[in-house]
Order: sequence, then C-alpha cells, then structure tokens
Amino acid sequence: MKILIGCDHAAFGLKETIKRYLIEKGVAVEDLGAFSEASVDYPQIGMQVASRVSKGQAERGILLCGTGLGMSMVANRFAHVRAALCNDLFSAGMSRRHNDANILVMGGRVIGDVLALEIVRTWLETPFEGGRHQRRLDLFDTPGQEP
Ligand code: RB5
Repeated sequence: MKILIGCDHAAFGLKETIKRYLIEKGVAVEDLGAFSEASVDYPQIGMQVASRVSKGQAERGILLCGTGLGMSMVANRFAHVRAALCNDLFSAGMSRRHNDANILVMGGRVIGDVLALEIVRTWLETPFEGGRHQRRLDLFDTPGQEP
C-alpha cells in the first residue's frame, strides 16, 4: 500500500514524525509537502493528495493541518475520497470499520505526536467491515438519493 502524506505549516513537525514512523514500518510513503514551517495555503497541499487518491493513483492518504478541519473539507470535495478527521482512537477505528476512510486527517494543534502515531497505527490495521456499510457508501454516488 502506498500512502501519500501532506500537511501545512501548522503540522509540519507532526508530518515528519508520521513519515519516519511509516518508513520504519516499511510502508511506502510519498511526501507532497509542506517541506518546512513556512506558511502555506493548506488547500494546495490537500488538493494534491486528494486528487491522486480520487483517481486511484494511491490507495490511501494522510493530511494534517492545525485543526484537521480545513484539510478534511478540501479532501471531501473529491469523488471517491472519504476523508475522516480523527483526533481520537475510537474515530480512527470506526472510520475504517464503517466508513472505509481512504484519507486520515488529524490536527497538529489538537493532538500530540504519541496519540497521532497510535491513530495512524489503528487506522492502518483496522479493516473495513463491508456488508451494510458498503451499501451505505454506495449511496454516496447514487443520483436521486438526496433527502
Ligand atoms: C493555519 O493557520 C490553519 O488555519 C490551518 O492549519 C488549519 O487549521 C485550517 O483548517
């Protein structure tokens, strides 16, 4: 599995920590920036990661900004992207089991590095349950299903 990772200046340190962790675990990771703590506009990084996941060029992505809010909003505009903002372990597990999340989003100003690495580990190791959850995901892309 190849993971694309991206962040803005507010989560540069966390991105570097997660990247090291993934490389140590033998996970293929491609870093799309930011490459320093210099201020950048998070949509530009978020769009790069999300568009490549959307096109199937990578199976998973990890996006990080100050809160995780902006990155998750940007990523979820792309077809076939299911970006989950998870700043706790329960959400990380459920985002895989029920939502088959393909992009994990976290807030570098919200959580510490140790919790973030546990969230990444949980998110990578937890499988999608399928079944009724797949039926619900299929509704995302079914025209005429609006309430
Ligand atoms: C940057 O200051 C901050 O707005 C950004 O990292 C993020 O939290 C946006 O949602």
